Amino acid sequence: MKLTRRYRFCASHRLDVPQLSAEENRRLYGKCNNPYGHGHDYVLDVTVEGPIDETGQVADRVKLDEWVSAKVLQQIDHKNLSNEVIGLKDSVATTENLAKLIGDSLAEDWPLVARLRRVRIMETDRNIFELEMA
Ligand code: NI
Repeated sequence: MKLTRRYRFCASHRLDVPQLSAEENRRLYGKCNNPYGHGHDYVLDVTVEGPIDETGQVADRVKLDEWVSAKVLQQIDHKNLSNEVIGLKDSVATTENLAKLIGDSLAEDWPLVARLRRVRIMETDRNIFELEMA
């Protein structure tokens, strides 16, 4: 059985690779290269999988919410992903890299019986990133 729980957070970023020219950065990242940064309202879906337990549930949702809040939301909500978030400072704050960071953070010392299966982030209506966990 799988459970997907949805969370929301707001954050800003600027996508820019210092080694590339201004023109190349604009071509690669479009609006996300705007010099002063910009924000997104991100939607984060976390999927867990496991058997139905004696409470009739696949996971303790309170426990899951606390974990996602502590490991992810408190670290990145209303932050500048490019400058403030440890783990993204040395890479481009793309949503691919963000999904990887979130997956790694959640997986470390994972506290639930159900296992972490997927991290999915919707950056915009047209940009949706999915990380399958091993
Ligand atoms: Ni952007």
